[in-house]
This record gives sequence, structure tokens and C-alpha cells, in this order.
Amino acid sequence: MFELQDAFARKFHYLRLSVTDVCNFRCQYCLPDGYKPDGRKSFLTLDEIRRLTRAFAAMGTNKVRITGGEPSLRKDFTAIIETVAATPGIRKVATTTNGYRMARQVADWRRAGLSAINVSVDSLDSRMFHQITGENRFQEVMAGIDAAFAAGFEQVKVNTVLMRGLNDGELGRFLAWIKDNPIQLRFIELMQTGEMDELFSRHHVRGALIKEQLLHAGWQQKVRAHNDGPAEVFWHPDYVGEIGLIMPYAKDFCASCNRLRVSSVGKLHLCLFGEQGVELRDLLAEDGHQAALQLRLRQALADKKATHFLHQGQTGMTPHLASIGG
Ligand code: GTP
Ligand code: 5AD
Ligand code: SF4
Repeated sequence: MFELQDAFARKFHYLRLSVTDVCNFRCQYCLPDGYKPDGRKSFLTLDEIRRLTRAFAAMGTNKVRITGGEPSLRKDFTAIIETVAATPGIRKVATTTNGYRMARQVADWRRAGLSAINVSVDSLDSRMFHQITGENRFQEVMAGIDAAFAAGFEQVKVNTVLMRGLNDGELGRFLAWIKDNPIQLRFIELMQTGEMDELFSRHHVRGALIKEQLLHAGWQQKVRAHNDGPAEVFWHPDYVGEIGLIMPYAKDFCASCNRLRVSSVGKLHLCLFGEQGVELRDLLAEDGHQAALQLRLRQALADKKATHFLHQGQTGMTPHLASIGG
């Protein structure tokens, strides 16, 4: 088997597959005001998803994260989970969701083969949650997390994008929440996408500030396992939950990159930032193109750069992360 490996000896066993651009929330950092998803876009079909996953799995991919937009807005979301989980070689099927549909559907997702779930919760104050996400759905999302535990998930990961002047004073409250709950709470440093310069300069906070506070309070950094993703993870003997820090502006952040992305319209993205994507869809229409698809993936990967372009101005930058699934 030819493994997906780049020129810097990084291996890619993890695919992030976006299945829609559409979202029913309007998180300030993600979807700018007035953004309308292109209704004419046709997202990957179940058959295309099956062929794509098969090709990746044949090259060593064992984990697929289904992303969006909000992936659970797809009517066939449960079938997508089943299709990905049924692909030989895929051992872990995860999703990243805004949690809106979880209370009603998470048990079905689990039965279909979902093995891990990440939910965005940007504030534990329902008014602030509304302000950041554009939706007054805090209670539903929290009920969704409870439902995930009830359905048998042993841990839930929560994503919180740090924003100065909005949620950056809530560390104490978040810590109290995870004291007795098996949640890995990940603070994510705000990333500057193409359509939000001003928001970035107003609200960006360095994750390192949280790290200093954690270390001061007795939290200890976990040793990274081989091929772990970019989060630095911390534990504390008095807490059931853990804290993760995702700091894309930190030195060496990209050295541990272990994931590739495919957008909801079937383009391969080697990085969240800085490139336009490689067309795959022409090879997804029939079962017969598997060899050509694998060759294209292998050739494309030769161009993967050592690091992202977050520090280098706007040209060619990703307009917002909903289009390629964060
Ligand atoms: P695990 O699979 O559980 O390790 O989680 P994950 O961090 O891969 O998945 P998740 O979708 O929860 O990622 C959370 C957010 O972290 C994403 O939406 C991005 O904002 C950010 N992130 C994840 N991977 C990368 C990456 O490779 N580069 C950058 N710049 N940001 C990333
Ligand atoms: N900066 C940081 N994280 C972002 N996300 C989306 N846009 C941004 C951004 N500009 C991430 C959040 C959210 C996930 C779906 O996408 O982590 O939880
Ligand atoms: Fe929707 Fe997620 Fe973007 Fe928020 S971050 S607008 S929930 S896709």
C-alpha cells in the first residue's frame, strides 16, 4: 500500500470531509454578516462520499471527521456516517457539530457508527452564547451534550474559540464545568480568515495566556502521542475533564499536521489556509476511477507546504472556514 506521506515525512491517516457549507448558526468568527451559502452548489452525494472514503482508506486513512458548515443539516447525515463507517480500514468516524440537532439525533448517529463527537460551545453564559453564535440555542446545545453521554459516548470534546472582550473572562466557569464531566475543552485561538480583518484585530487573544494560567494553577501538559493532532492537552488531578489548546500561530504548530481536507464540493485542500484546492470530483462519478484517484492524491500531496500562510497577508486566503470545514 502507498501511504499518504509528504515531503516533510508527515503522515496523513486522518481525513476531514466537509459535507455541506450550510449552517444554521452565524458564529462571528466563522460566517461573516450577510454571508449566504451558494444554494446552487451541489454537495458530494452519498455515492461520491463512499468512493472518496474508499480511496483514502486504501492509502492508509483510518479516521474520518465529517464537518461542514453544520453536517447534521444534511438529511442523509446518518447514512453518511454509516457509509463512512462501513468502509474497510476506517476505524474512527468523528464529527464536529454546533450541537443544535444532537439532543434529538445523537443516539441514531451513534448506532450508525459515530465514534467521537466535537461540539462548539463558545460561552457558558446563554446571552454571550447568543451574541457569539447569532442563535439563542445554549440550552439545546447543553442538552445535546447530555444526550451524547446518555447515548454512550465516554468523552465529548468541546471547542471554544477565544475572543477578547467576549468570552476571555470565562476560564473559571469553564474549569468548574469540566471538574466532574469527562469533557476535553479545547480553547482555539481565533484565526484570521479573509473576510474578517477587523474582527481579528479586535478579538484575537493568544492561547499562551491561557497556558500560563493553567500551569500556574497546577495543570500539567500531557506528553504527545505519536501522530497526535495540533492540540496541546493539559490534565489536573482534581479534574475529570481535560483542557486542550489549539494555537495555530505558535511556532511549530504545523510540524505535527496529520490531516487532509476535502471540501463539500470535492476539492482536496492540503491546508486550511493559503491554497485553492485540487479537483477530485471528476474522479468520483464512477467506481472505476479508484486507481486514478489515488494517483491524484499522491501527486497533490507532493505540493504540501511545511506550514500555513496565516502570517502572510490576504492573497489567496480562505474566506471563511465553513467552506472547508475548519
Ligand atoms: P480531534 O480529531 O479530536 O483531534 O479534533 P480536531 O481538532 O482535529 O477537530 P475539530 O474539528 O474539533 O477542530 C477544531 C478546530 O481546530 C478546527 O475547526 C480548526 O479551527 C482548528 N484546527 C483543527 N485542525 C487544524 C489544522 O490543521 N490547522 C489549523 N490552523 N487549525 C486547525
Ligand atoms: N478561528 C478559529 N476557529 C474557527 N472555527 C471556525 N472559524 C474559526 C476561526 N476563524 C472553528 C471553531 C468551531 C469549528 C466548527 O470551526 O473551532 O468550533
Ligand atoms: Fe456554523 Fe460552525 Fe461556522 Fe458556527 S463555526 S457558523 S456553528 S459552521
